[in-house]
Amino acid sequence: MMARTCLIRNAEVVTATDHYRADIYIKDGAIQAIGVDLSMAADRVIDATGLLALPGGIDAHTHFDMPFGGTTSSDDFLTGTRAAAFGGTTTIIDFAIQTRGHTAQEAFDTWLGKAEGKAVIDYGFHMILSEVTPHTLQEMQSMVDQGITSFKLFTAYPGVFMVDDGGIFQALQRAGEIGGLIAMHAENGSVIDVLVQQALARGQTAPKYHALTRPPEAEGEATHRVITLAKLAEAPLYIVHLSAFQALDEVTAARDRGQPVFAETCPQYLFLSYDNYEEPGFDGAKYVMSPPLRPKEHQEHLWRGLKTNDLQVVSTDHCPFCMKDQKILGQNNFAKIPNGAPGVETRMSLIYEGATKEGRLSLNRFVEITATAPAKLFGLFPKKGTIAVGSDADIVLFDPQGSTHWSAQTHHMRVDYNPYEGRTTPGAVRTVLSRGEVIIENEAFVGREGRGEFLKRATFKHP
Ligand code: URP
Ligand code: ZN
Ligand code: ZN
Ligand code: ZN
Repeated sequence: MMARTCLIRNAEVVTATDHYRADIYIKDGAIQAIGVDLSMAADRVIDATGLLALPGGIDAHTHFDMPFGGTTSSDDFLTGTRAAAFGGTTTIIDFAIQTRGHTAQEAFDTWLGKAEGKAVIDYGFHMILSEVTPHTLQEMQSMVDQGITSFKLFTAYPGVFMVDDGGIFQALQRAGEIGGLIAMHAENGSVIDVLVQQALARGQTAPKYHALTRPPEAEGEATHRVITLAKLAEAPLYIVHLSAFQALDEVTAARDRGQPVFAETCPQYLFLSYDNYEEPGFDGAKYVMSPPLRPKEHQEHLWRGLKTNDLQVVSTDHCPFCMKDQKILGQNNFAKIPNGAPGVETRMSLIYEGATKEGRLSLNRFVEITATAPAKLFGLFPKKGTIAVGSDADIVLFDPQGSTHWSAQTHHMRVDYNPYEGRTTPGAVRTVLSRGEVIIENEAFVGREGRGEFLKRATFKHP
């Protein structure tokens, strides 16, 4: 039977702003009291001495069960959300895909069907618009009414997702009117297509040419362009998976002018680099994702952006494909390697390492970029993203003295490699609560399949 009340004793509570020792009393899924030596009786008492109590992580960018590149991402909403929970993430926002000739409503219904009965943590959706038509523009309002308040558009993947500047501009205008937020995948897809064809014509088919045909300038240019379109449309803008300093410089300049532009980066851009494409044989395919990994020099710029709040969020773009039967589709042609990599489980640990080991970020900032900021930007705060009276009891008890070893042999993502194979990160997730229910303890999943709930998100408000 599920404990209706739970008392977490003697935790070191860390939020985006505070750090203090307290007990946390949970009733019916929500935090009901926080204080020193609370006296309530509870169905379950957890001793958290020596542990940090962190708000459950929010990963605002995942792709579970996603048809892409002639195959489907290998984690579904059960394996993906369970792996997320093991890694200390208790909320994900995935992407439903409106495909050409079909409605956004169909996409929403399809993605709800993929998640219902499977997800073990709470989830929301962004809506990918692969075309901007009078009908999809009209549907944006109905999506917002149903709790899908953000929309992803692409300047990349011509013929599949790419929308022209007029379409992006119209979607931005509409979003601005109705309290939506446009999330942009910003890379110049037309130029990249030319570079890809030229490389293939020269017989350059190895995985590394994926990166060499998607230069950082193509990201910088598209980022500049969509920031300008958002300014003209008087709409807020969110740049997804920002990887290059050329793009970060554009975001920084816009923010310095006072424009409401926000951006996320991902752990892979902070911890991996172009060098990974030079791994022997076909191993470079593990890192084929868009935007690609950049030369190492970009990493310091991204850490700087996280520190100065020019980057607000770290999400994963988790989009796993197995080497054995999926990445192999591009064995003789890098352009046929399905784009994406796993990361939903490793995010919190890696960012904790980057924040604490090198002293790059405070613990408060670590919480902010992994939970609080995405909750605020995507209409989930204060239900999610913090530890406060009234908030959902989504809590991670994290052992700063522990360590975590990463390997495809032991991770919980359904994919046959780990980009961080062999790495040990400081700290370990001990217990994870989702709406007051313990779902991870003693390194085991103890929750129930399908217990995750769809999150109806609020409209955009400038944080
Ligand atoms: O390579 C990537 N990023 N795959 C997922 C789709 C996207 O563009 O986010
Ligand atoms: Zn249809
Ligand atoms: Zn993208
Ligand atoms: Zn993505």
